[in-house]
Amino acid sequence: MTSQNTFRAVVAGTGAYLPEKILTNKDLEKTLDTSDAWITERTGIRERRIAADDESASTMAAKAGKLALEAGGIGPEDVDLIIVCTSSPDVLFPSTACFVQNELQAFGSAAYDISAVCSGFVFGLSIAEQYLKNGRYKNILVIGSEVNSRIIDWTDRSTCILFGDGAGALLLKRVEQEKPLGILSTHIYSDGRLSDLISVPGGIGRTGINKQDVDDKKYFIKMSGNATFKVAVKRMTDVIREALEFNGLSVEEVGLLVPHQANQRIISAVAERLNYPMEKVFMNIHKYGNTSGASIPIGIDEAKRSGRIQPGDISVLGVVGAGLTWGSAVIKW
Ligand code: ACO
Repeated sequence: MTSQNTFRAVVAGTGAYLPEKILTNKDLEKTLDTSDAWITERTGIRERRIAADDESASTMAAKAGKLALEAGGIGPEDVDLIIVCTSSPDVLFPSTACFVQNELQAFGSAAYDISAVCSGFVFGLSIAEQYLKNGRYKNILVIGSEVNSRIIDWTDRSTCILFGDGAGALLLKRVEQEKPLGILSTHIYSDGRLSDLISVPGGIGRTGINKQDVDDKKYFIKMSGNATFKVAVKRMTDVIREALEFNGLSVEEVGLLVPHQANQRIISAVAERLNYPMEKVFMNIHKYGNTSGASIPIGIDEAKRSGRIQPGDISVLGVVGAGLTWGSAVIKW
């Protein structure tokens, strides 16, 4: 009989979708009291993508998912589970994942969303890891997809400059082999005491959608930027360090660090604390801004397709987001 501990959760394919429309810092200068210089210097962001009117988290997720399936060489009928990590779902319910399942025609799968905002993708990976390693499923699509442009207040310069839209997907496959491969570990945390740091405070189940909350713009992202910044640096550093220690890895053994693209200064501060060289840190924040739950899989897809990730490499992921939530993962390719 097969021993369960030889089941590995391996990345078999990746995909990403970014909407065509580009909104530059210069464009924002026309409608906001801000400047390209301020945004670039404080965040590293130069432009972001904005979904077209007929696009949503589900349509973008389906496109990214389809590419991941193609890259992994399996058809939709072989998918056992679709997990969509999103904080900007199409509707309150049904889940965005059910729309994605329909679009992909992956009718043999279970499909559901998870909500951990910018940390969502690593939380989703940790679920997939369990199902694959315990032998329950064979093929799982984990997709991060966000249409942040619809949940930000375009008159609030402290938040709207930060976010962008997009989707990324990983197809994870169960393989059996002795040597460790694929997701080596995931480490996820939440602290609800910090729920006020970043939120969309308008009550849906709490108060019902109401005109006062609409007038007060409570259905848009609110963030204490400065406080979040400090917490983000500490939590991301600590949880990446934990992942390295758990796997007995030195910083030198990590080929690529793929951090959540929230702010270039947060990423630089984390790398500095880890004594990790910036040349080995994946960055695309200048092109897409903060795509929340989509940022990690978009980064992995770009790194993979551009050859920055090679077989045998070790990559480390690090995230922090609203909740507060934070996490890390180690992948051996
Ligand atoms: N253009 C020009 N000036 C601005 C802008 C802007 N777009 N936004 C804010 N300012 C001004 C402020 O009003 C303030 O002016 P004042 O000194 O006259 O009051 C000044 O710039 C400094 O503001 P700070 O908020 O202190 O600026 P800071 O350097 O902290 O940068 C930022 C703000 C970019 C938001 C930063 O705090 C940040 O990145 N925070 C973390 C964001 C994050 O990581 N979020 C986590 C994930 S998000 C999620 O989970 C959904």
